[in-house]
Amino acid sequence: MLVMALAAAPVEGQQAPARTPVPAMERLVDSLLALMTLEERLGQLTQLSGQPSDSGPRVRAEDEARIRAGRVGSFLGIYGAAYTRRLQRIAVQGSRLKIPLLFAYDVIHGFRTIFPVPLAEAASWDPAAVERSARVASVEATGHGLHWTFAPMVDIARDPRWGRIVEGAGEDPYLGAALAAARVRGFQGTDLAAPNTMLATAKHFAAYGAAEGGRDYNTVDLSPQTLHGIYMRPFQAAAAAGVGSVMASFNEVNGVPMHANADLINGVLRGRWGWDGVVVSDWNGIQELMPHGVAASRAEAGALGLHAGVDVDMVSEIYGKDVSAAVRSGQVTQHELNEAVRRVLQAKYRVGLFQDPYRYSDVEREREVTLTADHRAAARDVARRSIVLLKNQGKVLPLSKSSKTIAVIGTLAADAGSALGSWSADGRKEEAVSVLDGIRRALPSAQVLYARGAEVEGTDTSGFAEAVRVARRADAVILVLGERREMSGEANNRASIELPGMQEELAKRVQAAGRPVVVALMNGRPLAIPWLDQHIPAILETWYLGTEMGYAVADVIFGDYNPGGKLPVTFPRATGQIPLYYNHKNTGRPSGEKGNTSKYLDVPWTPLYPFGHGLSYTTFTYSTPQLSRRSMRATDTLVIQMVVTNTGQRAGDEVVQLYLRDDVASVTRPVKELRGFRRVTLRPREHVTVTFTLRADDLAFYDRRMNRVVEPGGFTVFVGGGSSEVKEARFEVTTGAQLGDARPR
Ligand code: GLC
Repeated sequence: MLVMALAAAPVEGQQAPARTPVPAMERLVDSLLALMTLEERLGQLTQLSGQPSDSGPRVRAEDEARIRAGRVGSFLGIYGAAYTRRLQRIAVQGSRLKIPLLFAYDVIHGFRTIFPVPLAEAASWDPAAVERSARVASVEATGHGLHWTFAPMVDIARDPRWGRIVEGAGEDPYLGAALAAARVRGFQGTDLAAPNTMLATAKHFAAYGAAEGGRDYNTVDLSPQTLHGIYMRPFQAAAAAGVGSVMASFNEVNGVPMHANADLINGVLRGRWGWDGVVVSDWNGIQELMPHGVAASRAEAGALGLHAGVDVDMVSEIYGKDVSAAVRSGQVTQHELNEAVRRVLQAKYRVGLFQDPYRYSDVEREREVTLTADHRAAARDVARRSIVLLKNQGKVLPLSKSSKTIAVIGTLAADAGSALGSWSADGRKEEAVSVLDGIRRALPSAQVLYARGAEVEGTDTSGFAEAVRVARRADAVILVLGERREMSGEANNRASIELPGMQEELAKRVQAAGRPVVVALMNGRPLAIPWLDQHIPAILETWYLGTEMGYAVADVIFGDYNPGGKLPVTFPRATGQIPLYYNHKNTGRPSGEKGNTSKYLDVPWTPLYPFGHGLSYTTFTYSTPQLSRRSMRATDTLVIQMVVTNTGQRAGDEVVQLYLRDDVASVTRPVKELRGFRRVTLRPREHVTVTFTLRADDLAFYDRRMNRVVEPGGFTVFVGGGSSEVKEARFEVTTGAQLGDARPR
């Protein structure tokens, strides 16, 4: 019997780690600040973007002169060991103060070896795998001269119409917090000055995913309890993990655009949490304060940004061109300006650029670290772990590898570009393995027939006949349905989350051919697929799994890997149910009861697939959870143990999940909230004792006056392999407590 102690869960109130003072850094920064002109200081806060060219991303002609003049501090989208070395030499040898440049890029889920999109990685519920993914990305990106990635995106998303749900870790703050910390560790490692680690950025601060209507950039209007108890939590975890940078978000929060939100940036992020890194604008976010209607001019927008604590102006060039008068007049104080510059110079010091500006621009290392066999193997492993088995009626899966003829149908099956997902950095589709390729290579002696069937969008059904023909000739059909990668990601929102185009019609025709059908979904958001759920025996959620997608999908379909992923987001039955999330309130008329209750006339109010859902090719049982005590004071700890057994015929992974409910409190509390998880691997008939520990932070919530409290009363714990199939136990908390916001564990 193996006893598993849970890794310390990220706690809501954790404070950023107190950095060890670096006297040499402070002396250098102070001496530079004393020498810098106003233009040079504003230059350090200016970030310009690279331009695509035949020889890769390049700066504009006039930018080299600006580097020499000390008018630019960093570049976005410029990489390549040789080219970054060239630009660094201009800065370090050609400018008056020889301050090195920072090179930044959106390395979100891989640089050249592309890993599963973050929402897929979240489905692995495996922080170690997610950390490994970020580590490989950091090794490849730094090998190409990059010092700073604009990742992890840690936005909670409860609305699958929102295109950027694909970039985050889903709907839950506890899972989101654990994965935010894992990605920060992966990118930053333990030594930021090492040549294979880079500054990470927690983005987009804050509550960007709460955009009304799921429309990107739209208004966010939240209660303080939801803002701080749900949306801020992954940012706190990233800050506690020592993330070096935070990116402000485009949206307003309760009337104040984030690029002008001093309360949340200087007040909470820096003040209450004690975080001291660099805040970077998102793209034109400072300039967008004008269309937001809170700034009448670029100069005013720039002053608001500096007052709020936004240090670096990405591409709007307002800091570099429009705020010097505001500084001279004192509207922007010298202290505000100097503190922003200080944080930028400290970041450059921490990544080691003052010690060796060329440390990351090493052409030899660039060659060594790119798209290696190890990196591809890591990508395939993380991809397999990210696949979720949604349904497997009659154990249609895994398909036999001795199948003579397999039909693969669907445009997406051959779409290696979509396999890479959005924000695929320097990933190249010609290096990616499509689902069709993966299946062909998994069954070299079988006949693998292919038909496009239907485009992802549009009304053309001319491919149906061919699809039915190949289906009829096959032992089994693999039908790949979903969305092209361009249908999620930034600004790519959908008003309907049903299957686009004629894909459901195609599924009906293929299913009518009478052969066993497996559907593999390729999508960047939950899809409402009630017809597939009712009529297709086996459904896999394969998201966009990156460079190794085809191999990973084939590994699962033909049984070389037993899927163990779980959904990090709720799958509604219909778009009209949105927002629908598992940690909802009970209301005064819970939907499950008779009569006038909170439900719909036309669909069940419940999700099609709940948060935490995922099946396996084996089965698991759970013992009733055992509690170390039946009552506890708020300052005690409670240990919860249960025995999980693999009762099937093959080894498999199970994500053991712990949920908690505060049964009665001074404000309404969710029907359940994730408070622990652990992915375990068990051989047939093997069992393991999984241990969770609950502390005051796990019981705490924000009350009416926004105090973070634990209240006495009854609590229920739920344990299981999903948020709905659970076993319960109860305990009492006998004393209350008020917890500060920052409570390092
Ligand atoms: C985009 C995105 C942000 C990204 C930035 C730089 O608008 O919102 O996530 O990091 O611009 O590419």
